[in-house]
Amino acid sequence: MAILVAGGAGYIGSHMVKDLVEHGQEVVVADNLSTGHRDAINPKAKFYEGDIRDRKFLDKIFDNEDIEAVVHFAAFSIVPESMSKPLKYFDNNTGGMITLLEAMRDHNIKYIVFSSTAATYGVPEHMPIKETDPQNPINPYGLSKLMMEKMMHWADKAYGIKFVALRYFNVAGAAPDGTIGEDHGPETHLVPIILQVAQGKRKELSIFGDDYNTPDGTNVRDYVHVMDLADAHILAIKYLEAGNESNAFNLGSSTGFSNKQMLEAAREVTGEPIPAKIAPRRPGDPDSLVAASDKARNVLGWDPKYDDVHDIIATAWKWHSTHPKGYDDRD
Ligand code: UFG
Repeated sequence: MAILVAGGAGYIGSHMVKDLVEHGQEVVVADNLSTGHRDAINPKAKFYEGDIRDRKFLDKIFDNEDIEAVVHFAAFSIVPESMSKPLKYFDNNTGGMITLLEAMRDHNIKYIVFSSTAATYGVPEHMPIKETDPQNPINPYGLSKLMMEKMMHWADKAYGIKFVALRYFNVAGAAPDGTIGEDHGPETHLVPIILQVAQGKRKELSIFGDDYNTPDGTNVRDYVHVMDLADAHILAIKYLEAGNESNAFNLGSSTGFSNKQMLEAAREVTGEPIPAKIAPRRPGDPDSLVAASDKARNVLGWDPKYDDVHDIIATAWKWHSTHPKGYDDRD
């Protein structure tokens, strides 16, 4: 039996595939390569190039392969882009989920592990954020993912498709062996941008706002290593296979770091000065987002290995410093 990883050529998906393959699992990757990279696809996985909104494409995979569970990463995920192009997000993310669930129903695939997000919570009422807290997204990206969670809920009730929604906080880092990593075009995320400044690819970091209601005035986020995140998905698959009910879990470290603290940590890791300036706020950024992640630890048995942002940044630095052009640099 194989696991289908939708979006397995993307940043998080490719690390998931690596983790599954290293656990001896048979893996099938589906990806339309719109944001993923052909070179990020694990050579031990079987690859189907296509779009999950294409029902015939999904039927081909489910007819040809013996799929026991789907892990679904195939979505757009850039918050500012979703503000200017909301329908692109509802089409690909929310629309894609309709086709995927219909195909799963018709091919009798019973389990799905889904990449949800802290962005489904909107502006939290208190910190750390619990899974039971209100979900009121403040951007189309977060809403597109919340709608996908709700669709899975009703697909479970009607068709018995069991799901685990994993609500990621800020994912960073790269495979410790330096073979795969983060490569977005254009890059919008804090850690890779800081490291591009360290490499001299950018002149300076713009810190978006220093007048937030946080200890040093810059936004506070909860960073989790991409391989720890992948481990949580493997545990979620096992949880579903053991016959448990559908569920949702936060994935974070439960510790907040400000943008200034992340910059300082990156200066220590890289030994580079990394020039920075304060720039205007970026629309849609809540002051702080920190997860309560004890539910994933207690129920799934999740035991994240990276509890220091320096170590997370160090794995990202290994990838960026050996692949300054991202996947274009790979052999
Ligand atoms: N930031 C800067 N300068 C930059 C880039 C980012 O100051 O050049 C700041 C942002 O303003 C924010 C912090 O760094 O305060 C983190 O920003 P990212 O873009 O790296 O991450 P986000 O917190 O905006 O978003 C991430 C994921 C989303 C997810 C969200 C949930 O990218 O998919 O976490 O917390 F929804």
